[in-house]
Amino acid sequence: MTIAPFLEDELGDVLDKALQHAGLTEDQLAAATGIEANRIKDAEDYRYDFTCAELQKLAVALGLNEVGVCAMSEGKYPLPELPALPFALHTIALPYGIGRVNAFVLQDFVTQRTILVDTVDRPERLAAAWPAGVAAPAAVLLTHWDRDHAGGLPAVILPQPGLSVLAPASRSGVAVDVLGEGDERCVAGFQIRAFRTPGHIAEHNAYFVTSESASGPGVLFSGDLIFAGSLGGAFYCCQTLHKEARRVVAALPGQTIVAPGHGPLTTIANERRFNPFLG
Ligand SMILES: [Fe+2]
Repeated sequence: MTIAPFLEDELGDVLDKALQHAGLTEDQLAAATGIEANRIKDAEDYRYDFTCAELQKLAVALGLNEVGVCAMSEGKYPLPELPALPFALHTIALPYGIGRVNAFVLQDFVTQRTILVDTVDRPERLAAAWPAGVAAPAAVLLTHWDRDHAGGLPAVILPQPGLSVLAPASRSGVAVDVLGEGDERCVAGFQIRAFRTPGHIAEHNAYFVTSESASGPGVLFSGDLIFAGSLGGAFYCCQTLHKEARRVVAALPGQTIVAPGHGPLTTIANERRFNPFLG
């Protein structure tokens, strides 16, 4: 177990999202907990000095995991040791806004064939960050079409016209294989299962990927559904996002690695235990 060096969300983001999920204002949360509304607003601006007892009150009122909330408030949100995978997983993590955005390259140990999951925001950034010696992908999986996750796509498809793009929705000018809930594909030695996960936006997928031939744990590419220690922003519907996150976490083995669109890798078991929204 290690301490997360850099989470996508801090306590202030979690409180902000939890208020939205609960449909509460800061004043209503203040009335429910006896904590001044101004201190809650300060916390949403990343200035907080809550005691452990106050954090517990906030967690109860917002339906959050107390252990995860307290750990996060101390900058000690735990991250697990990651299990060994039967394939290579390369992470491309680049600065984006005030945080970072992730893309991933899966590589079969035997055939060296690869799949790209999301593309970061710009073609030149994806091309510059491509892992050395790793082959161009046989397919691209997109969690959603937001620019920070799909903007680099031309760097991949322009040199390979006809390359298949697996995504939750079509786009004109791109050959897209649209995957819905439970759809499965076998590509480049990988088995891919789609979870339809609206919430961040209406058309969003998470993908559970395992090796087609070797046993061992798989990876959930969670996009902007689940982060280590938090959930994605809900621009479509926060209740739907929360429900989908709980459903996906309940459906997969605990040793599954979670590879989110932002922030560090984690596991399903870790997020079941500590994620403020899922524990
Ligand atoms: Fe994003």
